[in-house]
Parts: sequence; structure tokens; C-alpha cells
Amino acid sequence: MTGSTAVKIEHQRFFVVDFGSQYAQLIARRVRELGCYAEIVLPNDLAARVNEATGVIFSGSPWSAYDEAAPRVDPAVYAQGVPILGICYGMQLTTHLLGGAVQKADAREYGPARIQVLGTDTKLFDGLDSELDVWMSHGDRVEALPEGFVAIAKTDSAPFAAARHRDRPIYGVQFHPEVTHTPRGTAILRNFLYGVCGARGDWTMRSYIEEACEKIAAQVGADEQVICGLSGGVDSTVAAILIHKAIGDRLTCIFVDNGLLRKNEAQQVLDTFRNRYNIPLIFADEGDRFLDALEGVADPEVKRKRIGHVFVDVFKHHARDVPNAAWLAQGTLYPDVIESQSAFGGASVTIKTHHNVGGLPEELGFKLLEPFRELFKDEVRQIGRELGVPDAFVERQPFPGPGLGVRITGVVTREAVGVLQEADAIIREEIERDGHHKGLWQYFGVLAPVKTVGVMGDERTYENVVAVRAVESTDAMTADWADLPRAVLGRISNRIINEVRGVNRVVYDISTKPPATIEWE
Ligand code: XMP
Repeated sequence: MTGSTAVKIEHQRFFVVDFGSQYAQLIARRVRELGCYAEIVLPNDLAARVNEATGVIFSGSPWSAYDEAAPRVDPAVYAQGVPILGICYGMQLTTHLLGGAVQKADAREYGPARIQVLGTDTKLFDGLDSELDVWMSHGDRVEALPEGFVAIAKTDSAPFAAARHRDRPIYGVQFHPEVTHTPRGTAILRNFLYGVCGARGDWTMRSYIEEACEKIAAQVGADEQVICGLSGGVDSTVAAILIHKAIGDRLTCIFVDNGLLRKNEAQQVLDTFRNRYNIPLIFADEGDRFLDALEGVADPEVKRKRIGHVFVDVFKHHARDVPNAAWLAQGTLYPDVIESQSAFGGASVTIKTHHNVGGLPEELGFKLLEPFRELFKDEVRQIGRELGVPDAFVERQPFPGPGLGVRITGVVTREAVGVLQEADAIIREEIERDGHHKGLWQYFGVLAPVKTVGVMGDERTYENVVAVRAVESTDAMTADWADLPRAVLGRISNRIINEVRGVNRVVYDISTKPPATIEWE
């Protein structure tokens, strides 16, 4: 498809107004899951565009609606007839702007709560029980509804757990229907979209692909080239295939073997790209440069930054071979974005510097093409399937940019990489053997250079520890350790200790995220 022949796609639009909540993208994702197109809009931009929307959802926020500097919308948006659903802060802001009262609650209401539906509404709670479990997370509460509003649900402690305008399609809920802890949350959102807004459900991954291709073709100038850093993971692979569909051979991929890949991984990636897709590919075999740069470095953030810097150098070097390379494409996902930077300019802490987000493009002088910046991994997998990427590739587990560099705690040596590659291959093989990997988010090995004493035959051993990490998750924001069968863990342990030189102990990591993270560094 090219920019000039692209077909304009007509579909209903739903706006999610982001007041600085980490959940804004999650709301957008739920809307997409319900077959409707969702777009994130900033509060100040809403008034000018509200009439383009079939419905609008206001997100939560770390702010209080009555704060002087709190993000607001122009109150004129309420008079346009476009349905609005305010969630948490979204409801409080609506209350505040339309003349009701919002105050700091005596006690923060955080966690599960039970609402009673009052029977004063036939749309938002249509088809649902009269008592529902919901998830609350707020420090302020609605004390008085604005003129024209009625309560449609309450809790024992809050008389206005949900409200609606008598005549206009304006709704507010104090709880979070978008999180999985509100079991019927999706049904409530569906009622809003289909029952209140009249959604047609005209949005599919196919439309996403067509629209993304159109956008990419329009963005990238006819004489410009795009380069895409391949990591071998799902995100960059699917990004490359999507961009190739949009602009053909004006895309060149660069695959850097940083010496920190899994066993046989480089060869597998090369085979897929060269044999199956015929996408122009530069292979940079640069393991030594990365490993030299990591020599003697133990601090995880320093390691990540060094890997990032070498990556920039290597990339710069090879990008010179692509004439007119103006764009850098990356498979950055939404969770990468929020964990690496604070949302909405706020002061949230950087947990880990994901190397595909921090700094790279500015240093390189490229414009950035990130088609999945608003998506979650399972959505990218769906796109991959739509694009005909084989399941074996689409279902690959995520692999961090810094690779085994963040799975060898402390100093990374060539020897340690070799040990971990072997142990990790055994872990994957044994977990995959009877399909135990299905339903797992990630499963891999970590090499902890802690030496412990063992005994083999009559000999004393004094060798390293390998940890097995296997987690379930839907978006990597939270994760639980997997309940793998004892027999599988037993085989893993047995094989590693017998087959991998330098390891005499295998442990299973039983930490959830939070408070731990999935990777060890
Ligand atoms: P954590 O360890 O923070 O990881 O719970 C969350 C998810 O992100 C992956 N991860 C990375 N991905 N570059 C990436 O592309 C990185 O630097 C990076 N660090 C962690 C991790 O594997 C998990 O899926």
C-alpha cells in the first residue's frame, strides 16, 4: 500500500481523555478489545475535537479535581450531546465543573468494594446483578452531585459510587471498570459503548493494520528510508513486517548480535528474515564490542547504559550504509514507555532504563517511528497473526534488549554468558516439552554468581547458582510466579547440574511483581 492509493478507513472514534493516569492506555485497550477504535486525547485538546467522537471516557488522575493546577476540560464539552463516562477523577472533575462538590475523603478508599445498583438507570448496569464487586482507588469523593444528576449506584460508605445526568448521556463511576479486579468492568464499559453511545463495533486488528500502514506511508517521505533495529523479539519483528508492508524496501533492518543473545538465537532470526520475508537486513556481529564494554561492570543501571551506548555506536556505524536513512523504527510498547518515563510529566520514578526508550533517537539524529507505542504485547501478537507471522515466532516470549546482560547478576563475562546460554536452553526445552510454556509470559534462567558448596561423586564442588524464573502475566506490569509441576522443575535441575559445567545448584524464583521485577536486573 502507498500513501497515494491508500483507502480512507471510516470508523467510529472513541476518545480516552488522559488526565495523567497510568490506566488511560488500559481503558483504550479495553475499548479496542470491545471492537471500538480508541484514541488518547489530552484534556486541552478535547473541546476542539469532541464532535469527532462517538463517545468519550475520562480517565483517573493523581490530581484532585479542586486543585488549582489540576488538568481540566472546557465545560462546553458536556453540552455537545456526545456521551461522556467519567472514571474516578473523571467523575470528580465532571462533578466539580458542573457545580457539585468534591472533597478529600476521611479515609482513602483503595481496593475491593461492593456497590449496590440503585435501579435508577437502565443502561450502564444493564444485564448485571444489583450488587457488584468493584475496585476503588481514590482519596477524594463526590459529596454532592451537580444539578440534574442522580445516583445510580452506592456503597455502604459512599452514596455516589456512580451517577448519571437525567437527560443527557453523561455518566460517572467512582470505581475502575478497566481493571481486572472489577470482574464485570468490561460489561460496564460495553454497556457504555454499545448501550449509551450506540457503538457499531467496527474496529478490528485488520483496521489497525490498514490505518497504521496508511499513517506510516504518509509520514515517511518518498525519498526517505527507515531503519529498524531487530532484536529477535516479537515487537521489533512485527514492527518490521508492518513497516515493510507499508513502504516496502525503503525499510532496512539492522540486527545486532550483542553477544548476549540466547543459544542459537542469532541464526534463527537471520533465517526467518532472510528466508521467509526477504526484507533487506544488515547483520552486525558485534558481541566482542559489547562484552568488552561490560568488563568489570557490576551495577545494573551502568550495564544497561553501556549496552545502550555501544548499541548506538554500532547502529550509527551500520546505518551509514543506508542512504537517506531518516527514520528509526522501534517496537516500543506502552508498558516500556511508562516504566521508563513518568506519564504526563509527573514525578514517578524510573524503575529500569529500557534501552529501546531512553535517549537513543536523539543521539542518532533520527525521527522515530514507533507503531506500537500505545499497544500492549498481546495486541502486537494479534497484529503479527493477522500479518501471517508464524505462531512459533508470534508466541515467542519477550526478551529484553540488554539480553543475558541483565540475567547475569553482577559482572558479565564471556564464560558466564556461555554457562547461562546452556542452562537457559535446558530450562526452555524442559518447560516447552509438554506444553507447560502455554500460558506463561516468560520462562528463562538467571545466573547468580554466588558460589555454593556441593558434592558430586566423592568430590566437593564450589560452583555457581542458576535460578529458574517462570512467570504468568498479561502485560508485564504485574506478574506471578508459575506453579510448574515438580517433575518439570526436577528435570530442569537434574539436567543443568549434570550437563552445564560450573553450576552445582538450581533454585526456583517464587517472587511476584511487584515487589520484585520479572528480570533480576
Ligand atoms: P521487569 O523486569 O521490569 O520487566 O519486570 C518487564 C518486562 O520488560 C522486559 N524488559 C525489557 N525489554 N528492553 C526491553 O525491550 C529492556 O531494557 C527491558 N528490561 C526488561 C522484561 O523481559 C519483561 O518482559
